[in-house]
Amino acid sequence: MVDGMSRGRAGYGGPTGCELLPWLRLETFLIVPPRKNFSVYGPAHNTEQKTNIKCWHVLNSLGVAVTMQAHAWEDSMAKPKVLVTGAAGYVAAQLLPTFHERYDCTLIDVTTTDRDGHEVPGVQRQSLLVDDLDELRSLFAGCDAVVHLAFVRRTEDRHEQFDGEMDNIRMAYNVLRLSLEEDVRRVVVASSNHAADFYEHLLRSREMDMLPATNDIRPLSDNYYGWAKESYEHLGFVFATGTLGRKLENVHIRIGAPRSLDAATLEGDREGFPYRRNLGAYVSPRDLTQLMVKSIETENIDNEWGVPWQVFYGISDNTRSFWGLENARRVIGYAPEDDSEVTWAKDVYENLTTKGVIGRVGRVP
Ligand SMILES: NC(=O)c1ccc[n+]([C@@H]2O[C@H](COP(=O)([O-])OP(=O)(O)OC[C@H]3O[C@@H](n4cnc5c(N)ncnc54)[C@H](O)[C@@H]3O)[C@@H](O)[C@H]2O)c1
Repeated sequence: MVDGMSRGRAGYGGPTGCELLPWLRLETFLIVPPRKNFSVYGPAHNTEQKTNIKCWHVLNSLGVAVTMQAHAWEDSMAKPKVLVTGAAGYVAAQLLPTFHERYDCTLIDVTTTDRDGHEVPGVQRQSLLVDDLDELRSLFAGCDAVVHLAFVRRTEDRHEQFDGEMDNIRMAYNVLRLSLEEDVRRVVVASSNHAADFYEHLLRSREMDMLPATNDIRPLSDNYYGWAKESYEHLGFVFATGTLGRKLENVHIRIGAPRSLDAATLEGDREGFPYRRNLGAYVSPRDLTQLMVKSIETENIDNEWGVPWQVFYGISDNTRSFWGLENARRVIGYAPEDDSEVTWAKDVYENLTTKGVIGRVGRVP
């Protein structure tokens, strides 16, 4: 898991708590202020911090310079600073409980209320669509990571849709550019399965069985929303290559269906297609949270060409999934805990075998 996420630490890949003991020699300690990065975040956090506590007690009992050590220890307890955009939104609501536990969060959105009109605690009102980027700079300065969830929702009018998506691309650019300039290490962006919508026609006609989220196939969409998502996935790649000054690490999560399955989608569709599709696309709140947290915290996200850039599908371990998770499992150790088939077992039985659905009732599409 990520080491050196906190600003002020001695660079990425520095010593972990376990590596600290031989490194923290007494004479060095007394002369040079101790390096600050001796703990890690993530599942190993507690074990390694216990190691640090033992180290602290040993030094303390020997009567060495505990003040300096205290500063270092205090700093090791600091949570990574994470800026969340679109923090009053639907997806943010699934992530924030865990984010608040693990990170020192700054939350921004154009509104402070959620879709139901409830106030979301801690959200600062701030648009990402500004003429002068300096207005936003202080929000990014000092952050270890940015999670970009803000977006302008689709309208019915096709031409308006295009303009809205241009705003979404502009917001993604503003986030990436400010992150680059303000020394943010990593950006995690909400993309969508719609980035590759074109292939869904091929999946449905069985010309394709499974769509991988790898570089073997170019994502293509047949709508502006998906096109914009694919565009800012690619924009992130430009920032990750290093040609703009340094490699800005970024991950894009093609979120599937982060919602309860709605049997009403069966109405008027005797093949049950939308319902069966959502069984394959479902992502539970805890799986989406795990995916986001691991995307923020995994130390090395280099792709096969050494570019710190990844695209993962955001779905649970669904029996009927038709998008691949192999890269998420391999690169960040994503281990989804849920399967729509189990979560909705009773509904699946009732909806797909007793309501006159015809055609395939198995894996979708
Ligand atoms: N909800 C889904 O089913 C789903 C599925 C796949 C992908 N996604 C993606 O996840 C992300 C979040 O989606 P969501 O469902 O939470 O949407 P949402 O509309 O609930 O939240 C988006 C938030 O962005 C804010 N926002 C809009 N313009 C802004 C601006 N100029 N500056 C700052 N904030 C602004 C909105 O006020 C809103 O609170 C989006 O990128 C979306 O495409 C969502």
